[in-house]
Amino acid sequence: MHYKKIDAFLSAHILRPQALLDSISQASRQAGLVPHAVSPLQAAFLALLIRISGARRVLEIGCLGGYSAIAMAEALPVGGSLLTTEIDTRTAAIARTHIEASGYADRIDLRTGPALAVLKEQIAEGDLFDFIFIDADKVNYRAYIEHALRLSRAGTPIIIDNIVRGGDILQHDPSANSLRGLRAMFDYIRSLKGVEMTAFQMVGEKGHDGMLLLRVEQGQ
Ligand code: DHB
Ligand code: MG
Repeated sequence: MHYKKIDAFLSAHILRPQALLDSISQASRQAGLVPHAVSPLQAAFLALLIRISGARRVLEIGCLGGYSAIAMAEALPVGGSLLTTEIDTRTAAIARTHIEASGYADRIDLRTGPALAVLKEQIAEGDLFDFIFIDADKVNYRAYIEHALRLSRAGTPIIIDNIVRGGDILQHDPSANSLRGLRAMFDYIRSLKGVEMTAFQMVGEKGHDGMLLLRVEQGQ
C-alpha cells in the first residue's frame, strides 16, 4: 500500500516544522543506527499524550538514537524529566551526542546498560513515573511491563511499541525469540488486574505494526 506516501501527506499537513527532530533522525541514519525509531507522527502522538496527561516524570525503555526521548522531553513542562535506557554502549554514545545537541540534556537522564538493571535500581529508590514508553528488545517485554507497573502511579499511561510486527504476532508457532517474547507479554497482560488497556494497529512509514496503551488504575 501507500503507507509511506500517506504518512508523508499527513506529516506535511499536520506536523509543525520539526528541524530539531529531523536533524536527530538524519544524524541517526548517518551514524548507521537501525531505522527503528518511532515515526514523526508517532513521536507527535507520544508528545501529545504527555501534554494531555500532564506528565512531569517520564520513563523510556529503549533509547536507540534518542529520537523519541527528545520528542518526549520537548513536551515536558519546565522542571520535568525523562529517564531513558540503552543497552548498547556505542548506540548510547551516539544518543548522548544527539541529546547534547538537542538542548534538552538537562531533562534527559540516559543510563547505559540492561534496562532491567536500571528499572530495579529505580524501584529500590522508590522512583515513580507519570508516563512510560516501552520500545526495547521484545524478548523482555513481559518483564518490562512487570517492572513498569511497579514504577507507576495511579493513572500512569504505559505505551508499548511494536505489538503487531506486520501480523507476525499471529504465527501459530512463533520461532523468533522476539515473537515469543511478544506472545508471553500478551499472555501476561490478559491476567492483569487494575489496569485498563487498548491496542492500535498502525500503518505508516514503518509498515504495519501497533501499540498497546495501558493505564494503571491503582499503583501496583
Ligand atoms: C524493531 C524494533 C522496533 O522498536 C521497531 O519500532 C521496529 C522494528 C525490530 O527490532 O525489528
Ligand atoms: Mg519500536
